[in-house]
Amino acid sequence: MKKRVTKAIFPVAGLGTRFLPATKSIPKEIMTLVDRPLVQYAIDEARAAGIKEFIFVTSRGKGALEDYFDHAPQLESDLRRKGKNALLETLKSTNMESGAIAYIRQHKALGLGHAVWCARRLIGNEPFAVMLPDDVIAAETPCLQQMVESYAETGGNVVAAMEVPSDMTSSYGILDVKKDMGSIVSVKGMVEKPEPDKAPSNLAVIGRYILTPKILQNLNKIKSGAGGEVQLTDAIAQEIINSDNVYGYRFRGQRFDCGSKAGYLQATVSFGLGRPELHDEFDAFLRQTMAAQKAAQ
Ligand code: UTP
Repeated sequence: MKKRVTKAIFPVAGLGTRFLPATKSIPKEIMTLVDRPLVQYAIDEARAAGIKEFIFVTSRGKGALEDYFDHAPQLESDLRRKGKNALLETLKSTNMESGAIAYIRQHKALGLGHAVWCARRLIGNEPFAVMLPDDVIAAETPCLQQMVESYAETGGNVVAAMEVPSDMTSSYGILDVKKDMGSIVSVKGMVEKPEPDKAPSNLAVIGRYILTPKILQNLNKIKSGAGGEVQLTDAIAQEIINSDNVYGYRFRGQRFDCGSKAGYLQATVSFGLGRPELHDEFDAFLRQTMAAQKAAQ
């Protein structure tokens, strides 16, 4: 019987340099898509997948993130007094149970693998999820839930995967596929950010993982890899050699890389259009803007 996945690590200790100067004072994860911070999308997805414990790996300057998860009793009572029940419900839906969130400090941005390793004592000997909040995934069934269902079949380590254009492989961890079974692929190797001519496929890993505690043991031994950082990819690749139990999962949904400006803007447009109360006005604005741009060319 496979153990259920009830813990998730949210590594949010990176410097977010691509969004400077904003990230001088705002954690990237607090930036909003329409009216919800990126991290709220990740939390909602985790909850839908049955996650009960939320472990944030943070760093200096992430205070706004911790504050975001506090209850806001004053604001709640003001809204109640004014009869703003819809807003009150919106606010309440973001409340977290006491003790459900833990914060661990990564003292230096030594890489994603190191950030995950920092949470090792809170994970213990259980499978766990890793979610990068800057990867936002629009999906009918939330991505991590799809992965948990897939994990129930395969066990082992499951990484979310998607096809990327061949000239983009150097931005991702890339899978070397052993057997392609459709939505699930078994994996015989994994390379971090290979140049297109060295990439074993164009199946890229994005920021959702279900991992066995063995990965944490592997991270104990791993020295820095690509880019001088401790790479999570290297610890997973080690597990392919040790246990041959790594699977890629082709999720159903659209992923936005909100860690990049272009991806963040695309997500803003897509989520904005997806809101019924905004759709008509925003759609008209976008059409006018595109028409004006065309006319000016
Ligand atoms: P990124 O590669 O997006 O780096 O990290 P970054 O620092 O957040 O952003 P840029 O590239 O400087 O703009 C991917 C994820 O891993 C976390 C980040 O917070 C992000 O969620 N991370 C990265 C850590 O927690 N610690 C690290 O040392 C590195």
